[in-house]
Amino acid sequence: MILLKGAFNQEGLFMVLCAKVPRKNAEKVRQMLAQKDALDYSYATHRDAEFVYFALKRECGLPSFSKYGANLAQIPLVQRSVHPASLYDALVEKLSEEELQMLVSSFDILGDIAVIEVPAQLEKKEKLIADAILQVHGNVKVVAKKAGATAGEFRIRPVKIIAGEKRTTTLYRENGCEFELDINSVYFSSRLGTERKRVATLAKNGESVLVLFAGVGPFAIGIARQKPQAKITAIELNPKAFEYMEKNIARNKCKNVKAILGDVRKVLGTEFEKCADRVVMPLPKDAHLFLDAVFPACKKGATVHLYSFGDSKNPYEETERAILQTAKKAGRKVEIMNRRIVRPYSPSTVQVVVDFKAY
Ligand SMILES: C[S@@+](CC[C@H](N)C(=O)[O-])C[C@H]1O[C@@H](n2cnc3c(N)ncnc32)[C@H](O)[C@@H]1O
Repeated sequence: MILLKGAFNQEGLFMVLCAKVPRKNAEKVRQMLAQKDALDYSYATHRDAEFVYFALKRECGLPSFSKYGANLAQIPLVQRSVHPASLYDALVEKLSEEELQMLVSSFDILGDIAVIEVPAQLEKKEKLIADAILQVHGNVKVVAKKAGATAGEFRIRPVKIIAGEKRTTTLYRENGCEFELDINSVYFSSRLGTERKRVATLAKNGESVLVLFAGVGPFAIGIARQKPQAKITAIELNPKAFEYMEKNIARNKCKNVKAILGDVRKVLGTEFEKCADRVVMPLPKDAHLFLDAVFPACKKGATVHLYSFGDSKNPYEETERAILQTAKKAGRKVEIMNRRIVRPYSPSTVQVVVDFKAY
């Protein structure tokens, strides 16, 4: 066989000069070829059951790799597009198979900020990964990595910028609403969008709705926009989140939301007796601890949406027990209307919502 850098075969397919390497030695040989600057990244690597085929720029003394069972070959290969279609495509020649397996491919995009989790073993390659995200996702302008756990009363997860523009503020669009926020000073999760839509759909015009633990306002504004005749009060403790909520109420032209800065327990204690037709409690870590303050604010027959964490094997038991026990102490009867898993949280924990009526 005469090996040319690239040639058409009899069927008119473009035949590319490759290193044909047994799968078990593929990574070793790939690294050696990369060191010799012999790999041609404009073609996608091909794999079959036994071999991996790397496109080559030139022959590059491949016989020295024969001890790894590598040979030269010519096969038709797919040309890569200039803009890789996926993070995997963008990194396939830059990370080893093992590193690619480790890469957490699902990450959150909040507005134009991608928030990724970098496994400890990949920390040295985080810039490479972040640059690949910028290349693949044209709408992403900032890549931030999670730099700690969600913590504290304000439920903030610190992030560190690793590529792109140096900012943590963004504009997030959801269900026809817009939210300004700073991911380093407020809590926000794009994963609750479906839940916010569900609650806004259940709310009715004319209702008085209390949104507790309101953050930058996504539940309150979502309900306000969908039900313009509902009257919504949104309570938030974090001054920064409260500031953004006020901006977002104005940005979304909601005349029917009143934002209050303060601790739910103290605010409810003062002026909200038997006033609410609906209460939203999106503080999964601790919301059940506030139920004693919420029952007095509920009209007879009010609906409460309580968010909580549960054991993935028995997701609702503890939450429902807390609801029943606190209701009993408050002299109220409750009826569980609906329960669902909102999202997986960790291997053993899920986030759940329980909807109940308080009589
Ligand atoms: C999990 S976040 C939910 C934020 C928002 N509802 C959302 O879906 O994006 C909980 C919020 O409750 C606020 N918070 C925590 N304890 C509070 C309290 N005692 N009173 C009022 N707000 C509180 C935190 O600052 C945080 O913004």
